[in-house]
Amino acid sequence: MEQEAVKVAELLKAKPYTIVLTGAGISVESGIPTFRDRDGLWRKYEPSKLATPEAFKANPKLVWEWYAWRMNTIAKAEPNDAHKVLASMEERGMVRAVVTQNVDGLHQRAGSSNVIELHGSIWSARCVSCGWTTTFTAPPEVVPPRCPMCGGLLRPGVIWFGEPLPERAWAMAYEEASRAEMMLVVGTSAIVYPAAHLPYVAKSMGAKIIEVNPEPTPLTPHADISVRAKAAAFMGLVARNLSLPL
Ligand code: APR
Repeated sequence: MEQEAVKVAELLKAKPYTIVLTGAGISVESGIPTFRDRDGLWRKYEPSKLATPEAFKANPKLVWEWYAWRMNTIAKAEPNDAHKVLASMEERGMVRAVVTQNVDGLHQRAGSSNVIELHGSIWSARCVSCGWTTTFTAPPEVVPPRCPMCGGLLRPGVIWFGEPLPERAWAMAYEEASRAEMMLVVGTSAIVYPAAHLPYVAKSMGAKIIEVNPEPTPLTPHADISVRAKAAAFMGLVARNLSLPL
């Protein structure tokens, strides 16, 4: 891990146009479970019952109870060193954008400003009838929450299985991947498309791919450097090699 951290720090020092793709793994050390690890959410819960438009239509109360529980977990979480190092790298022009599949908002809370949320945000919600939108700062008191404008049902502002990504977010993420000279891919199983396509877009344009994950993924054989490491520990080492304050 040390060797790769020195190498990645060297590459970053030259300030190539670098973007980052993150997944649930980067928030593990903030106490937020992933989806597909041994103790992941999809091991305990059935995604088709909780994270699809059909599930919401069938049982909006159950879906909101699950999201309220996740909002509670996330509200108690703090950004970890991995989030903080990426924010500090952005400040120094070493990272241009963070494209995240996460809905927890921890990148923004760590100080990253150019964050592209491909799967929406757990803190946002919109009315299924009139389109009114809001941002929660805490889980809704009553579930399912109702629209104050028209009384319609509010739905979580996240992307469910079978739904298209937000057009603007996808266009921006694709544009960033196309112009990247380096892409850090941190904490994702790299199997959920279209997000998982982005490292291949960057690679096809000549970018270096750096993967950080305790486990190998389908992306591993295509990465220039693939580090078997936890995000916070590895990014902390890279920060030390760059003399970035943590
Ligand atoms: N540091 C870095 N990576 C880690 C850590 C850690 N401490 N702990 C686990 N990981 C890795 C796992 O090895 C796994 O490869 O994080 C990855 C988490 O994978 P998933 O649970 O599949 O999460 P993610 O890749 O973000 O899922 C993508 O699937 O269910 C949908 O919308 C959901 O955004 C999510 C998408």
